[in-house]
Amino acid sequence: MSATLAVEGLSVAFGGVKAVDALSFSVEAGTIKGVIGPNGAGKTTLFNAISGFVAPQAGRVRVGGRDVTRLRPQARAALGLARTFQNLQLFARMTVLENVMVGAHVHLASGWLAGLLGLARREGQQAEALARVQLARLGLEAHAGRRAGDLGFAEGKLVEIARALAASPQLLLLDEPIAGVPLHDQRRIAEVIRSVRAGGTTILLVEHNMRVVMDLCDEILVMHHGARLAEGPPAQVAHDPDVIAAYLGTAAHA
Ligand SMILES: Nc1ncnc2c1ncn2[C@@H]1O[C@H](COP(=O)(O)OP(=O)(O)OP(=O)(O)O)[C@@H](O)[C@H]1O
Ligand SMILES: [Mg+2]
Repeated sequence: MSATLAVEGLSVAFGGVKAVDALSFSVEAGTIKGVIGPNGAGKTTLFNAISGFVAPQAGRVRVGGRDVTRLRPQARAALGLARTFQNLQLFARMTVLENVMVGAHVHLASGWLAGLLGLARREGQQAEALARVQLARLGLEAHAGRRAGDLGFAEGKLVEIARALAASPQLLLLDEPIAGVPLHDQRRIAEVIRSVRAGGTTILLVEHNMRVVMDLCDEILVMHHGARLAEGPPAQVAHDPDVIAAYLGTAAHA
């Protein structure tokens, strides 16, 4: 198997805080790697550096063997990288359908803005068809015409996932996709994540819910103060004394 994502010696600092500290790991094609660690461990900053929203001080990010470290977020998206945001980043004035169509337009020639403005009619139709498939997958058909700004937090999370999937990503980064979502939607999201992996997409998953992480992930990377504390299959990581001491031991009682 080959690595879809390779992170090499990555460091991101904010002032004196080393949010990501000389971190290296890779994710094999078609697998799910969980990223866990206490609040402030650097998980979201890692996602931001992989997707191009913050510039690292050192290190490299490779997607499908290609060095993307200096590319803008849109260029990484065009290479097959999609993500969701821990704090939602939807276009509040656009409808649910339009938000998801933005994801689909990543692969269409004229871009999402032209599509939404009706400048490329056929592409708009293609994007809508792609978007509607993902809306159905996440149980959002009835919400297609609602303004994203009127949605509750949990509904917004489902829309974020639908938008990322509409881009048919090779590599998908999910930042706490089930946090703050009711149980029946949690189950639906977990099923969707499984089926996305079955379709060949490689996934990096940040999530605090240990049961879900242990259940879904092929491997887990444990971060602590921006660095790697442990890495391996779920059962191995769960029994790692360093992990229990630094994280699971306290989280189990939270
Ligand atoms: N834009 C920023 N400016 C300054 N400091 C930041 C910024 N983003 C993150 N940090 C700091 O970097 C560290 C890592 O934060 P990050 O959000 O990556 O952690 P996290 O593991 O995602 O935490 P959580 O589980 O709470 O989401 C923290 O100390 C945080 O305060
Ligand atoms: Mg975070």
